[in-house]
Amino acid sequence: MNLLERKGKTMATRIKIFDTTLRDGEQSPGATMNVAEKVRIAQQLEKLNIDIIEAGFPASSKGDFESVQTIARIIKRCEVAALCRTNPSDIDLAWKAVKNAKLPRLHTFISTSSVHLTHMIKKTKDDVIKVAAQSVARARRYTSNVEFSAQDATRTDVEFLFAVIEAAIRAGATTINIPDTVGYAVPSEFGNLIQRIYREVKGIDKVTLSVHCHNDLGLAVANSLVAIQNGARQVECTINGIGERAGNASLEEIVMAIRTRNDLLPFYTRINPAHIYGTSRLVSKITGMLVQPNKAIVGANAFAHESGIHQDGVLKEKLTYEIMTPESVGISKSSLILGKLSGRHGFRERLKELGYHLSEADLERAFNRFKMLADKKRDIYDEDIESIVVEEILRMPKRYKLIYLNVITGNVTVPTATVQMEVNGKLIQEAGFGDGPVDATFKTIKKITKSKSKLLQFAINAITGGTEAQGEVAVKLEEKGQTVIGQSADTDVIVASAKAYINALNKIEFRKQKLVGM
Ligand code: KIV
Ligand code: ZN
Repeated sequence: MNLLERKGKTMATRIKIFDTTLRDGEQSPGATMNVAEKVRIAQQLEKLNIDIIEAGFPASSKGDFESVQTIARIIKRCEVAALCRTNPSDIDLAWKAVKNAKLPRLHTFISTSSVHLTHMIKKTKDDVIKVAAQSVARARRYTSNVEFSAQDATRTDVEFLFAVIEAAIRAGATTINIPDTVGYAVPSEFGNLIQRIYREVKGIDKVTLSVHCHNDLGLAVANSLVAIQNGARQVECTINGIGERAGNASLEEIVMAIRTRNDLLPFYTRINPAHIYGTSRLVSKITGMLVQPNKAIVGANAFAHESGIHQDGVLKEKLTYEIMTPESVGISKSSLILGKLSGRHGFRERLKELGYHLSEADLERAFNRFKMLADKKRDIYDEDIESIVVEEILRMPKRYKLIYLNVITGNVTVPTATVQMEVNGKLIQEAGFGDGPVDATFKTIKKITKSKSKLLQFAINAITGGTEAQGEVAVKLEEKGQTVIGQSADTDVIVASAKAYINALNKIEFRKQKLVGM
Protein backbone atom coordinates (compact mmCIF):
# COMPACT_ATOMS: atom_id res chain seq x y z
CA MET A 1 0.00 0.00 0.00
CA ASN A 2 1.48 3.38 -0.92
CA LEU A 3 1.17 6.59 1.04
CA LEU A 4 -1.75 7.80 -1.05
CA GLU A 5 -3.74 4.66 -0.33
CA ARG A 6 -2.96 4.99 3.37
CA LYS A 7 -4.09 8.61 3.50
CA GLY A 8 -7.13 8.17 1.26
CA LYS A 9 -7.45 9.67 -2.21
CA THR A 10 -9.25 12.83 -1.07
CA MET A 11 -5.95 14.52 -0.20
CA ALA A 12 -4.45 14.06 -3.61
CA THR A 13 -5.10 15.68 -6.97
CA ARG A 14 -5.89 13.55 -9.97
CA ILE A 15 -3.60 13.63 -13.01
CA LYS A 16 -5.13 12.59 -16.33
CA ILE A 17 -3.06 10.24 -18.42
CA PHE A 18 -3.23 10.98 -22.15
CA ASP A 19 -1.65 8.12 -24.06
CA THR A 20 -0.23 8.89 -27.50
CA THR A 21 1.39 5.51 -28.25
CA LEU A 22 -0.85 5.09 -31.29
CA ARG A 23 -0.05 8.56 -32.68
CA ASP A 24 3.31 9.99 -31.51
CA GLY A 25 4.48 6.46 -30.62
CA GLU A 26 3.77 5.33 -34.16
CA GLN A 27 6.01 8.18 -35.34
CA SER A 28 9.00 6.23 -33.93
CA PRO A 29 11.21 5.33 -36.86
CA GLY A 30 9.89 2.01 -38.13
CA ALA A 31 6.99 1.49 -35.72
CA THR A 32 4.24 1.28 -38.34
CA MET A 33 1.11 -0.55 -37.14
CA ASN A 34 -1.89 -1.77 -39.06
CA VAL A 35 -5.51 -1.23 -38.02
CA ALA A 36 -5.96 -4.56 -36.22
CA GLU A 37 -2.74 -4.04 -34.27
CA LYS A 38 -3.76 -0.53 -33.22
CA VAL A 39 -7.18 -1.73 -32.12
CA ARG A 40 -5.58 -4.42 -30.00
CA ILE A 41 -3.32 -1.85 -28.31
CA ALA A 42 -6.29 0.49 -27.77
CA GLN A 43 -8.19 -2.33 -26.04
CA GLN A 44 -5.20 -2.96 -23.80
CA LEU A 45 -4.95 0.78 -23.01
CA GLU A 46 -8.61 0.71 -22.01
CA LYS A 47 -7.84 -2.16 -19.66
CA LEU A 48 -4.99 -0.12 -18.21
CA ASN A 49 -7.55 2.63 -17.51
CA ILE A 50 -6.05 5.39 -19.63
CA ASP A 51 -8.05 8.63 -19.50
CA ILE A 52 -7.52 9.69 -23.12
CA ILE A 53 -6.27 7.56 -26.00
CA GLU A 54 -4.90 9.57 -28.92
CA ALA A 55 -5.84 7.11 -31.63
CA GLY A 56 -4.13 8.80 -34.57
CA PHE A 57 -3.89 11.66 -37.03
CA PRO A 58 -6.67 10.99 -39.56
CA ALA A 59 -5.40 13.40 -42.23
CA SER A 60 -1.99 11.70 -42.33
CA SER A 61 -3.16 8.56 -44.13
CA LYS A 62 -6.14 6.40 -45.04
CA GLY A 63 -4.90 3.81 -42.56
CA ASP A 64 -4.83 6.36 -39.74
CA PHE A 65 -8.32 7.54 -40.57
CA GLU A 66 -9.58 3.96 -40.49
CA SER A 67 -7.76 3.19 -37.22
CA VAL A 68 -9.19 6.24 -35.46
CA GLN A 69 -12.68 5.45 -36.76
CA THR A 70 -12.50 1.82 -35.65
CA ILE A 71 -11.03 2.61 -32.23
CA ALA A 72 -13.63 5.35 -31.70
CA ARG A 73 -16.39 2.80 -32.26
CA ILE A 74 -14.91 0.13 -30.00
CA ILE A 75 -13.52 1.98 -26.96
CA LYS A 76 -16.12 2.91 -24.38
CA ARG A 77 -14.29 3.71 -21.13
CA CYS A 78 -11.66 6.20 -22.36
CA GLU A 79 -11.89 9.43 -24.28
CA VAL A 80 -10.65 8.95 -27.85
CA ALA A 81 -8.73 11.86 -29.39
CA ALA A 82 -7.97 12.58 -33.04
CA LEU A 83 -5.11 14.90 -33.96
CA CYS A 84 -5.50 17.59 -36.63
CA ARG A 85 -3.59 20.60 -37.90
CA THR A 86 -5.42 23.93 -37.88
CA ASN A 87 -6.72 23.83 -41.45
CA PRO A 88 -10.47 23.26 -41.83
CA SER A 89 -10.18 20.07 -43.88
CA ASP A 90 -7.96 18.42 -41.23
CA ILE A 91 -10.41 19.33 -38.48
CA ASP A 92 -13.42 18.13 -40.47
CA LEU A 93 -11.72 14.83 -41.30
CA ALA A 94 -10.59 14.29 -37.70
CA TRP A 95 -14.17 14.80 -36.54
CA LYS A 96 -15.48 12.41 -39.18
CA ALA A 97 -13.09 9.77 -37.84
CA VAL A 98 -13.74 10.28 -34.12
CA LYS A 99 -17.37 11.37 -33.97
CA ASN A 100 -18.75 7.94 -33.09
CA ALA A 101 -16.66 7.67 -29.95
CA LYS A 102 -18.56 7.63 -26.69
CA LEU A 103 -16.20 10.38 -25.44
CA PRO A 104 -14.64 12.07 -28.50
CA ARG A 105 -11.93 14.74 -28.36
CA LEU A 106 -10.46 16.89 -31.13
CA HIS A 107 -6.81 17.85 -30.69
CA THR A 108 -5.66 20.69 -32.92
CA PHE A 109 -2.12 22.11 -33.02
CA ILE A 110 -0.01 24.81 -34.60
CA SER A 111 3.64 25.78 -34.21
CA THR A 112 4.40 28.87 -32.15
CA SER A 113 8.22 29.17 -32.02
CA SER A 114 9.91 31.76 -34.25
CA VAL A 115 12.08 29.09 -35.84
CA HIS A 116 8.98 27.14 -36.92
CA LEU A 117 7.08 30.29 -37.98
CA THR A 118 9.95 31.55 -40.16
CA HIS A 119 11.18 28.35 -41.72
CA MET A 120 8.28 25.95 -41.62
CA ILE A 121 4.80 27.41 -41.58
CA LYS A 122 5.75 30.87 -42.93
CA LYS A 123 3.20 32.73 -40.83
CA THR A 124 3.41 35.89 -38.73
CA LYS A 125 2.64 35.86 -35.01
CA ASP A 126 -0.68 37.60 -35.67
CA ASP A 127 -1.58 34.95 -38.26
CA VAL A 128 -0.87 32.20 -35.71
CA ILE A 129 -3.08 33.78 -33.05
CA LYS A 130 -5.89 34.14 -35.58
CA VAL A 131 -5.55 30.64 -36.99
CA ALA A 132 -5.32 29.06 -33.51
CA ALA A 133 -8.58 30.73 -32.47
CA GLN A 134 -10.33 29.87 -35.74
CA SER A 135 -9.33 26.22 -35.56
CA VAL A 136 -10.48 25.83 -31.96
CA ALA A 137 -13.77 27.57 -32.82
CA ARG A 138 -14.29 25.22 -35.78
CA ALA A 139 -13.55 22.18 -33.60
CA ARG A 140 -15.96 23.51 -30.97
CA ARG A 141 -18.74 23.43 -33.56
CA TYR A 142 -18.36 19.65 -33.46
CA THR A 143 -17.58 18.94 -29.79
CA SER A 144 -17.19 20.60 -26.41
CA ASN A 145 -14.00 18.56 -25.82
CA VAL A 146 -11.23 20.42 -27.67
CA GLU A 147 -7.52 20.35 -26.96
CA PHE A 148 -5.14 22.94 -28.36
CA SER A 149 -1.35 22.43 -28.57
CA ALA A 150 1.27 25.12 -29.17
CA GLN A 151 3.90 23.10 -31.00
CA ASP A 152 7.50 23.86 -29.92
CA ALA A 153 6.13 25.83 -26.95
CA THR A 154 9.37 25.61 -25.00
CA ARG A 155 11.28 27.53 -27.71
CA THR A 156 8.53 30.12 -28.07
CA ASP A 157 8.69 33.71 -26.87
CA VAL A 158 6.77 33.52 -23.58
CA GLU A 159 4.57 36.59 -24.03
CA PHE A 160 3.54 35.39 -27.49
CA LEU A 161 2.88 31.90 -26.12
CA PHE A 162 0.57 33.39 -23.48
CA ALA A 163 -1.26 35.36 -26.17
CA VAL A 164 -1.81 32.24 -28.32
CA ILE A 165 -3.04 30.24 -25.33
CA GLU A 166 -5.44 33.01 -24.28
CA ALA A 167 -6.83 33.18 -27.82
CA ALA A 168 -7.35 29.41 -27.85
CA ILE A 169 -9.11 29.52 -24.46
CA ARG A 170 -11.34 32.40 -25.57
CA ALA A 171 -12.27 30.38 -28.67
CA GLY A 172 -13.37 27.47 -26.47
CA ALA A 173 -10.40 25.11 -25.92
CA THR A 174 -10.94 22.92 -22.86
CA THR A 175 -7.40 21.53 -22.63
CA ILE A 176 -4.25 23.52 -23.31
CA ASN A 177 -1.20 21.43 -24.07
CA ILE A 178 2.38 22.69 -23.74
CA PRO A 179 4.66 20.45 -25.82
CA ASP A 180 8.40 20.34 -25.39
CA THR A 181 8.46 19.22 -28.99
CA VAL A 182 12.21 18.87 -29.40
CA GLY A 183 13.00 17.80 -25.83
CA TYR A 184 14.95 21.00 -25.21
CA ALA A 185 13.71 22.10 -21.77
CA VAL A 186 15.40 21.29 -18.47
CA PRO A 187 13.24 20.62 -15.40
CA SER A 188 13.75 23.90 -13.48
CA GLU A 189 13.03 25.92 -16.63
CA PHE A 190 10.02 23.84 -17.63
CA GLY A 191 8.56 23.92 -14.11
CA ASN A 192 8.92 27.68 -14.13
CA LEU A 193 7.18 27.99 -17.52
CA ILE A 194 4.24 25.86 -16.35
CA GLN A 195 3.99 27.83 -13.12
CA ARG A 196 3.89 31.11 -15.07
CA ILE A 197 1.21 29.79 -17.42
CA TYR A 198 -0.78 28.52 -14.44
CA ARG A 199 -0.54 31.90 -12.69
CA GLU A 200 -0.52 34.44 -15.50
CA VAL A 201 -2.60 33.19 -18.43
CA LYS A 202 -6.15 34.52 -18.35
CA GLY A 203 -8.75 31.76 -18.24
CA ILE A 204 -6.27 28.93 -17.55
CA ASP A 205 -8.19 28.06 -14.37
CA LYS A 206 -11.17 27.10 -16.56
CA VAL A 207 -9.25 24.52 -18.61
CA THR A 208 -6.98 21.53 -18.06
CA LEU A 209 -3.31 22.36 -18.41
CA SER A 210 -1.40 19.55 -20.11
CA VAL A 211 2.23 18.79 -20.98
CA HIS A 212 3.77 16.70 -23.74
CA CYS A 213 7.50 16.11 -23.29
CA HIS A 214 9.97 14.59 -25.72
CA ASN A 215 13.08 12.80 -24.54
CA ASP A 216 15.92 14.21 -26.65
CA LEU A 217 17.97 15.05 -23.54
CA GLY A 218 16.58 12.16 -21.50
CA LEU A 219 14.48 14.59 -19.43
CA ALA A 220 10.93 13.86 -20.62
CA VAL A 221 9.76 12.14 -17.43
CA ALA A 222 11.54 14.63 -15.13
CA ASN A 223 9.96 17.52 -17.06
CA SER A 224 6.50 15.91 -16.88
CA LEU A 225 6.79 15.43 -13.11
CA VAL A 226 7.98 18.96 -12.46
CA ALA A 227 5.10 20.20 -14.61
CA ILE A 228 2.49 18.47 -12.46
CA GLN A 229 4.14 19.95 -9.38
CA ASN A 230 3.57 23.34 -10.97
CA GLY A 231 -0.03 23.04 -12.10
CA ALA A 232 -0.26 20.64 -15.05
CA ARG A 233 -3.15 18.19 -14.62
CA GLN A 234 -2.73 16.09 -17.77
CA VAL A 235 0.43 14.40 -19.00
CA GLU A 236 0.90 13.06 -22.50
CA CYS A 237 3.07 9.99 -22.70
CA THR A 238 3.60 6.65 -24.43
CA ILE A 239 4.08 3.04 -23.43
CA ASN A 240 7.81 2.20 -23.24
CA GLY A 241 8.47 5.88 -24.03
CA ILE A 242 8.35 5.23 -27.78
CA GLY A 243 7.88 8.18 -30.11
CA GLU A 244 9.43 10.58 -32.60
CA ARG A 245 13.29 10.55 -32.40
CA ALA A 246 14.34 9.78 -28.78
CA GLY A 247 10.71 9.21 -27.88
CA ASN A 248 8.12 10.66 -25.51
CA ALA A 249 7.80 10.60 -21.75
CA SER A 250 7.33 7.02 -20.63
CA LEU A 251 3.87 6.34 -19.21
CA GLU A 252 4.98 3.58 -16.86
CA GLU A 253 7.74 5.73 -15.37
CA ILE A 254 5.41 8.68 -14.71
CA VAL A 255 2.68 6.51 -13.19
CA MET A 256 5.05 4.55 -10.96
CA ALA A 257 6.99 7.67 -9.89
CA ILE A 258 3.71 9.20 -8.71
CA ARG A 259 2.74 6.03 -6.85
CA THR A 260 6.15 5.34 -5.35
CA ARG A 261 7.02 8.91 -4.31
CA ASN A 262 3.58 9.96 -3.19
CA ASP A 263 5.21 11.68 -0.22
CA LEU A 264 6.62 14.29 -2.61
CA LEU A 265 4.13 13.92 -5.46
CA PRO A 266 0.68 14.11 -3.82
CA PHE A 267 -1.20 13.10 -6.94
CA TYR A 268 -2.92 10.00 -8.26
CA THR A 269 -3.88 8.57 -11.64
CA ARG A 270 -6.66 6.18 -12.68
CA ILE A 271 -4.13 3.74 -14.12
CA ASN A 272 -4.27 0.12 -13.01
CA PRO A 273 -0.53 -0.61 -12.67
CA ALA A 274 -1.09 -4.37 -12.71
CA HIS A 275 -1.52 -4.08 -16.51
CA ILE A 276 1.64 -2.06 -17.12
CA TYR A 277 3.94 -4.96 -17.93
CA GLY A 278 1.43 -6.71 -20.21
CA THR A 279 0.85 -3.48 -22.10
CA SER A 280 4.58 -2.89 -22.45
CA ARG A 281 5.07 -6.40 -23.88
CA LEU A 282 2.19 -6.01 -26.30
CA VAL A 283 3.42 -2.65 -27.62
CA SER A 284 6.93 -4.04 -28.00
CA LYS A 285 5.68 -7.10 -29.88
CA ILE A 286 3.42 -5.16 -32.20
CA THR A 287 5.79 -2.28 -33.00
CA GLY A 288 8.87 -4.51 -33.10
CA MET A 289 10.65 -2.07 -30.80
CA LEU A 290 12.41 -4.24 -28.25
CA VAL A 291 12.62 -2.85 -24.72
CA GLN A 292 16.19 -2.24 -23.51
CA PRO A 293 17.00 -4.58 -20.58
CA ASN A 294 17.84 -1.71 -18.21
CA LYS A 295 14.63 0.25 -19.01
CA ALA A 296 13.01 1.46 -15.78
CA ILE A 297 9.86 -0.42 -14.66
CA VAL A 298 9.48 -2.79 -17.65
CA GLY A 299 13.04 -3.76 -18.70
CA ALA A 300 14.16 -7.37 -18.20
CA ASN A 301 16.64 -6.24 -15.52
CA ALA A 302 14.36 -3.73 -13.78
CA PHE A 303 13.81 -6.08 -10.84
CA ALA A 304 16.85 -8.38 -11.22
CA HIS A 305 19.36 -8.27 -8.39
CA GLU A 306 22.76 -9.37 -9.61
CA SER A 307 25.34 -8.65 -6.94
CA GLY A 308 25.66 -10.99 -3.95
CA ILE A 309 25.17 -8.17 -1.46
CA HIS A 310 21.94 -7.06 -3.15
CA GLN A 311 20.61 -10.62 -3.41
CA ASP A 312 21.38 -11.23 0.23
CA GLY A 313 19.61 -8.00 1.23
CA VAL A 314 16.51 -8.72 -0.86
CA LEU A 315 16.24 -12.25 0.50
CA LYS A 316 16.29 -10.87 4.05
CA GLU A 317 13.97 -7.94 3.38
CA LYS A 318 12.76 -6.79 -0.05
CA LEU A 319 12.74 -3.15 1.01
CA THR A 320 16.55 -3.17 1.20
CA TYR A 321 16.86 -2.84 -2.57
CA GLU A 322 13.31 -2.80 -3.97
CA ILE A 323 11.33 0.45 -4.01
CA MET A 324 8.35 -1.24 -5.67
CA THR A 325 7.50 -4.86 -6.33
CA PRO A 326 7.52 -6.53 -9.76
CA GLU A 327 4.00 -7.82 -8.98
CA SER A 328 2.74 -4.22 -8.62
CA VAL A 329 3.39 -3.64 -12.35
CA GLY A 330 2.11 -7.04 -13.39
CA ILE A 331 5.36 -8.99 -13.59
CA SER A 332 4.44 -12.32 -12.16
CA LYS A 333 7.16 -14.74 -11.09
CA SER A 334 5.03 -17.75 -11.82
CA SER A 335 3.64 -17.02 -15.24
CA LEU A 336 4.04 -20.64 -16.37
CA ILE A 337 0.61 -21.51 -17.54
CA LEU A 338 0.27 -24.17 -20.18
CA GLY A 339 2.04 -27.22 -21.54
CA LYS A 340 1.73 -29.99 -24.12
CA LEU A 341 -1.20 -31.62 -22.36
CA SER A 342 -3.28 -28.45 -22.04
CA GLY A 343 -6.54 -28.56 -23.91
CA ARG A 344 -8.49 -26.14 -26.05
CA HIS A 345 -10.60 -25.04 -23.09
CA GLY A 346 -7.59 -24.12 -20.91
CA PHE A 347 -6.04 -22.31 -23.85
CA ARG A 348 -9.21 -20.32 -24.53
CA GLU A 349 -9.57 -19.39 -20.84
CA ARG A 350 -5.98 -18.21 -20.62
CA LEU A 351 -6.47 -16.12 -23.77
CA LYS A 352 -9.52 -14.52 -22.19
CA GLU A 353 -7.54 -13.70 -19.04
CA LEU A 354 -4.92 -12.05 -21.25
CA GLY A 355 -7.68 -10.00 -22.87
CA TYR A 356 -8.00 -11.84 -26.21
CA HIS A 357 -11.52 -12.85 -27.21
CA LEU A 358 -11.02 -14.75 -30.44
CA SER A 359 -13.58 -16.01 -32.95
CA GLU A 360 -13.88 -19.81 -33.28
CA ALA A 361 -11.82 -19.78 -36.50
CA ASP A 362 -9.07 -17.62 -35.00
CA LEU A 363 -9.06 -19.72 -31.84
CA GLU A 364 -8.58 -22.85 -33.95
CA ARG A 365 -5.61 -21.30 -35.78
CA ALA A 366 -4.05 -20.06 -32.56
CA PHE A 367 -4.62 -23.40 -30.83
CA ASN A 368 -2.97 -25.34 -33.68
CA ARG A 369 0.01 -23.03 -33.48
CA PHE A 370 0.10 -23.49 -29.70
CA LYS A 371 0.17 -27.28 -30.11
CA MET A 372 3.04 -27.01 -32.59
CA LEU A 373 4.94 -24.81 -30.14
CA ALA A 374 4.18 -27.14 -27.22
CA ASP A 375 5.75 -30.00 -29.21
CA LYS A 376 9.01 -28.05 -29.36
CA LYS A 377 8.90 -26.29 -26.02
CA ARG A 378 7.92 -27.90 -22.73
CA ASP A 379 6.64 -24.85 -20.84
CA ILE A 380 4.48 -22.21 -22.48
CA TYR A 381 4.39 -18.77 -20.83
CA ASP A 382 2.07 -15.79 -21.25
CA GLU A 383 4.68 -14.15 -23.48
CA ASP A 384 4.59 -17.21 -25.80
CA ILE A 385 0.80 -17.03 -26.02
CA GLU A 386 0.95 -13.33 -26.87
CA SER A 387 3.47 -14.08 -29.61
CA ILE A 388 1.11 -16.62 -31.12
CA VAL A 389 -1.83 -14.23 -31.15
CA VAL A 390 0.17 -11.29 -32.53
CA GLU A 391 1.72 -13.44 -35.24
CA GLU A 392 -1.23 -15.57 -36.24
CA ILE A 393 -4.25 -13.39 -35.71
CA LEU A 394 -3.44 -9.70 -35.71
CA ARG A 395 -1.30 -9.53 -38.78
CA MET A 396 -3.08 -8.34 -41.88
CA PRO A 397 -3.28 -10.27 -45.15
CA LYS A 398 0.28 -10.58 -46.34
CA ARG A 399 1.82 -10.04 -49.73
CA TYR A 400 4.77 -12.21 -48.72
CA LYS A 401 4.46 -15.46 -46.80
CA LEU A 402 7.15 -17.94 -45.72
CA ILE A 403 6.27 -21.47 -46.76
CA TYR A 404 9.51 -23.38 -46.33
CA LEU A 405 13.02 -22.71 -45.06
CA ASN A 406 15.98 -25.06 -45.04
CA VAL A 407 19.38 -23.85 -43.91
CA ILE A 408 22.67 -25.71 -43.97
CA THR A 409 25.32 -24.22 -41.77
CA GLY A 410 28.31 -25.14 -39.63
CA ASN A 411 31.93 -24.21 -39.05
CA VAL A 412 33.26 -25.97 -42.21
CA THR A 413 30.52 -25.29 -44.71
CA VAL A 414 29.29 -22.28 -46.67
CA PRO A 415 25.96 -21.36 -45.07
CA THR A 416 23.22 -21.99 -47.63
CA ALA A 417 19.49 -21.27 -47.46
CA THR A 418 16.67 -22.70 -49.54
CA VAL A 419 13.52 -20.63 -49.20
CA GLN A 420 10.06 -21.13 -50.58
CA MET A 421 7.66 -18.20 -50.37
CA GLU A 422 4.22 -17.21 -51.51
CA VAL A 423 4.33 -13.84 -53.26
CA ASN A 424 0.88 -12.50 -54.04
CA GLY A 425 -0.43 -16.08 -53.93
CA LYS A 426 2.29 -17.46 -56.26
CA LEU A 427 4.86 -20.00 -55.02
CA ILE A 428 8.50 -19.09 -55.62
CA GLN A 429 11.58 -21.02 -54.52
CA GLU A 430 15.21 -19.88 -54.48
CA ALA A 431 18.50 -20.83 -52.88
CA GLY A 432 21.45 -18.67 -51.89
CA PHE A 433 24.46 -18.48 -49.64
CA GLY A 434 25.86 -15.90 -47.26
CA ASP A 435 28.28 -15.11 -44.47
CA GLY A 436 26.14 -16.91 -41.92
CA PRO A 437 22.78 -18.69 -41.78
CA VAL A 438 20.83 -15.45 -41.25
CA ASP A 439 22.70 -13.63 -44.01
CA ALA A 440 22.07 -16.55 -46.41
CA THR A 441 18.37 -16.55 -45.50
CA PHE A 442 17.97 -12.79 -45.90
CA LYS A 443 19.81 -12.72 -49.23
CA THR A 444 17.57 -15.49 -50.57
CA ILE A 445 14.39 -13.75 -49.40
CA LYS A 446 15.63 -10.56 -51.03
CA LYS A 447 16.19 -12.44 -54.29
CA ILE A 448 12.62 -13.80 -54.19
CA THR A 449 10.93 -10.51 -53.29
CA LYS A 450 13.23 -8.31 -55.41
CA SER A 451 13.21 -5.91 -52.46
CA LYS A 452 15.31 -2.75 -52.70
CA SER A 453 15.29 -2.28 -48.93
CA LYS A 454 18.44 -1.91 -46.86
CA LEU A 455 18.94 -3.79 -43.58
CA LEU A 456 19.65 -1.25 -40.84
CA GLN A 457 19.39 -3.34 -37.70
CA PHE A 458 19.00 -6.90 -36.55
CA ALA A 459 18.42 -7.84 -32.90
CA ILE A 460 17.63 -11.09 -31.07
CA ASN A 461 16.19 -11.45 -27.56
CA ALA A 462 15.12 -14.60 -25.73
CA ILE A 463 11.51 -14.56 -24.58
CA THR A 464 11.47 -16.33 -21.19
CA GLY A 465 14.45 -18.45 -20.09
CA GLY A 466 16.33 -21.62 -21.11
CA THR A 467 17.80 -22.84 -24.39
CA GLU A 468 14.35 -23.91 -25.60
CA ALA A 469 13.06 -20.32 -25.20
CA GLN A 470 11.55 -18.62 -28.20
CA GLY A 471 13.93 -16.23 -29.94
CA GLU A 472 12.35 -12.84 -30.52
CA VAL A 473 13.87 -11.10 -33.54
CA ALA A 474 13.51 -7.49 -34.67
CA VAL A 475 14.65 -6.39 -38.12
CA LYS A 476 14.80 -2.75 -39.20
CA LEU A 477 14.68 -2.04 -42.94
CA GLU A 478 14.90 1.18 -44.90
CA GLU A 479 13.47 1.90 -48.33
CA LYS A 480 13.32 5.32 -49.97
CA GLY A 481 13.97 7.08 -46.66
CA GLN A 482 11.20 5.21 -44.82
CA THR A 483 12.06 2.74 -42.08
CA VAL A 484 10.02 -0.17 -40.77
CA ILE A 485 10.60 -2.71 -38.02
CA GLY A 486 9.60 -6.33 -38.54
CA GLN A 487 9.30 -8.65 -35.59
CA SER A 488 8.75 -12.33 -35.03
CA ALA A 489 9.39 -15.16 -32.59
CA ASP A 490 10.13 -18.85 -32.94
CA THR A 491 12.02 -21.56 -31.05
CA ASP A 492 14.37 -21.59 -34.06
CA VAL A 493 16.13 -18.21 -34.30
CA ILE A 494 16.81 -18.56 -38.04
CA VAL A 495 13.11 -19.14 -38.69
CA ALA A 496 12.29 -16.20 -36.37
CA SER A 497 14.77 -14.05 -38.34
CA ALA A 498 13.23 -15.03 -41.69
CA LYS A 499 9.73 -14.29 -40.40
CA ALA A 500 10.80 -10.95 -38.91
CA TYR A 501 12.43 -9.97 -42.21
CA ILE A 502 9.29 -10.94 -44.14
CA ASN A 503 7.13 -9.08 -41.60
CA ALA A 504 9.22 -5.96 -42.27
CA LEU A 505 8.80 -6.39 -46.05
CA ASN A 506 5.03 -6.70 -45.57
CA LYS A 507 5.08 -3.51 -43.51
CA ILE A 508 6.89 -1.70 -46.33
CA GLU A 509 4.07 -2.77 -48.65
CA PHE A 510 1.50 -1.60 -46.08
CA ARG A 511 3.36 1.70 -45.71
CA LYS A 512 3.15 2.30 -49.46
CA GLN A 513 -0.62 2.57 -49.05
CA LYS A 514 -0.21 5.50 -46.63
CA LEU A 515 -0.72 8.91 -48.18
CA VAL A 516 1.27 11.58 -46.34
CA GLY A 517 3.44 11.62 -43.26
CA MET A 518 3.28 14.27 -40.54
O1 KIV B 1 5.57 17.06 -30.03
C1 KIV B 1 4.61 17.76 -30.38
O2 KIV B 1 4.66 18.99 -30.41
C2 KIV B 1 3.40 17.06 -30.79
C3 KIV B 1 2.18 17.89 -30.98
C4 KIV B 1 1.44 17.51 -32.21
C5 KIV B 1 1.33 17.80 -29.75
O3 KIV B 1 3.39 15.86 -30.91
ZN1 ZN C 1 5.11 14.93 -29.84
